[in-house]
Formats: sequence, C-alpha cells, structure tokens
Amino acid sequence: MPVSDKTFTGMSSSSWIRQMFEAGAKLKSKLGSENVFDLSIGNPVAEPPREFKNELLNIAREPFAGMHRYMPNAGYLHTRQAVARDLSQEFALDFNADEIVMTCGAAGALNVALKTVLNPGEEVVVISPYFPEYLNYVDNYDGKVCFVASGNEFLPQADEIGRAINKNTRAVIINSPNNPTGVLYSGAVLRDLASALKEKSLKFGRQIYLISDEPYRRLIYDGLKYPPPLHYYDDTIITCSYSKDLSLPGERLGYLAVGPGIYDKKELIAGMIYNNRVLGFVNAPALMQNLVARLQSVSAPVLEYERKRNYLYARLVESGYEVIKPQGAFYMFPKTPLENDVAFIEKLMSFGVLAVPGSGFGCHGYMRLSYCVEDRCIEGALEGLIKAIKD
Ligand SMILES: Cc1ncc(COP(=O)(O)O)c(C=O)c1O
Repeated sequence: MPVSDKTFTGMSSSSWIRQMFEAGAKLKSKLGSENVFDLSIGNPVAEPPREFKNELLNIAREPFAGMHRYMPNAGYLHTRQAVARDLSQEFALDFNADEIVMTCGAAGALNVALKTVLNPGEEVVVISPYFPEYLNYVDNYDGKVCFVASGNEFLPQADEIGRAINKNTRAVIINSPNNPTGVLYSGAVLRDLASALKEKSLKFGRQIYLISDEPYRRLIYDGLKYPPPLHYYDDTIITCSYSKDLSLPGERLGYLAVGPGIYDKKELIAGMIYNNRVLGFVNAPALMQNLVARLQSVSAPVLEYERKRNYLYARLVESGYEVIKPQGAFYMFPKTPLENDVAFIEKLMSFGVLAVPGSGFGCHGYMRLSYCVEDRCIEGALEGLIKAIKD
C-alpha cells in the first residue's frame, strides 16, 4: 500500500462535506450546473472587499525590496502589531505583537495549537455538532477526542463538559458563532464554561486550555456583540482567520493569539512559533500578511449575509422546517423532516439540492445549509426544500 495505515483509514472515512462535493459534481454533470443548488460548502461567493483589491494594486505598483523573502516564523512584526492593536480595541484588553503568531488560516492555527499543547493520548473535548476537521486535527497529534453533546439551542452544557474532563484532558474547543449551527455563545454560557474549566484545572493541577476557534467572529447579526471567551477564561488560545470575513479562504491566512494573562505565556508562544516552522508552514503567506496589516479596520459583508439569513430562515419556517435562527456565521442547521438525515439529503438531491447531513457534524436528524451563496442558488434550493418537505 503506497500510503500509511493512518492515512488509509483517514481517507476511507472521508468527510460528508467532501462526499457531498463529489456527489454534487456528478449531479451537475447529470442535470446541468444551472439546475443544481449547492448549499453544501462554506466557500463564500462574496468577493473580497474593495479595500483589499486597492491594497493589492498598490503593493503591485510599489513593491518593496524583500517582500517575498522568508521572515520570522511568527510572521511580520508590523502585521502582528496591527492584529494586536485591532484585538486590543475589539476585546478592550492589552495585546501586544508577541502574543500573535500569523498562520496558514484557522486550520493552520488549530494544528499549531494542538501540536503545541497535546501529548499523545491526551484528550480534547469537542462539542457536537462540531466542525468535522477538529477530529482529524486532534488525531494528527495522537490526541483523543472526547465528544460532549450541546444542549438547548446547541449551546455548550458546562456541567456535561465538566463531567467529561479528567486528568488526561488538555483542551476544550469551542466555536462561536458556530459552524454548523450559526449559534452565538452568550457571556453567561461562557462564564459557566469558564468556571467548570477553572474548577477542573484546580482539581487536576494542570492547565486545561480553551481553544476558541473564531473565524466567524466578525459575522454577527441583529446588532449583537461578540462576547470574547478570553474575558471569562485566561488560558484561552484564539484561532482565527481572514477566510470568511474578508472572503479570502484560498489565500490561507489566519492567526493564533493568546491572552495577556495566559499561563507560562513565553514558552507556549515559543512552542507555537517552533511548530509553525516544523509543521512545514514555515511562515504564513507574505503578500497576504502585508495586505491584511492594512485592512484590520475593514468590515465584513455582515448586512449581505444577514439579508440572506433573514430570507432563508423565514422561508424555511413558513414551509414547516424547525430551525434555530442563526445569530452569526453563514450556516443554518434545520431538523430534517425524516429522522434519517442521510435519506433526506438523498431526497433533496433528487430535487437538485445539495446540503450536508447532520451526521457529518456528529448530530443525526439535522442538515447544514450554507447560505454564503448567490441569491439565485438560495431560491432554487428553497424550491427543492419545499417540495421535499411536502413529499
Ligand atoms: C469552524 C471552522 N474552523 C476553522 C475553519 C478553517 O478555516 P481556514 O480557511 O481559515 O483554515 C473553518 C472553515 O470552514 C471553520 O468553519
């Protein structure tokens, strides 16, 4: 076999998102792509903001010497300073550049963070429904996932998480606003979670990190504000990205940030910088770092996504779907009218609609709809969704 056993196992249990992508390609060649309405992937169709294009042109017109060279593994100082300034303002905390490591997207940040804190066999609590790649990332470093189901309205249940934590637990991953549910965690939810983590850290005499995966932090609706987990728990590692708010997923830029009060900060950050290097990322893309340093104040297309959310949510509810109104990100997670979510997804495909079964996120009986797509696609998908629920 040309690949390792671990790779073979990983490839054979390919994710539902991937499977839907492949099924979609087949469906498009059968029905014609104009008759397929794909709500299966979180690949924003919004173009990057005008300011991004302007800065790209500026830098192309006036390149500076050395701008394509290697740099410190943590990233450019001026970019980290810009991120630290912006985070300080957003969270009303005092960040400095030394607390930031530029990474290849949130995916790169998560891998660096997990490699830095996990010993083989140690556990990471993942709350279902979850972003499925978390499982692969934990496995990359021979960690073990400990699944804890979310409670009412897909919110984390602090008491359940507390019960799941044991002497081998190293971290808990949260993601708010959430993929796949769109739910935003309130301050009260985070406070309860933080007290469970503090209690267990004391009990077991070691840091239990909260890894706060925040790529959707700037996509929040209804005028709500983001409650930063860092306000409630010092040992928080932030993983973030420009993939979603600036619509740059192909450019692979994100960052890691740790709070000013995190335990043994110097060694932790040195470990992250080392791992950014030895994982082979070396450093995050230079051109993008130079651009986002100038774009920290640029806002995400929140109103556009909010409009799409309002429309899709209203139409789903009036058609009889049960769904929690998302407060952020660009996903909805309705109950499937059939208990067997995979069977319902197949039914939807017969109407040319692609969605991902909740099973792919560790939550049967639901489906994820991504609405970061053109209105035409939402309209077409709704026709199929309405036919399918009537059927
Ligand atoms: C919750 C979550 N975390 C991390 C990522 C990875 O994002 P990036 O493109 O920044 O690597 C995604 C991408 O969809 C995501 O939804």
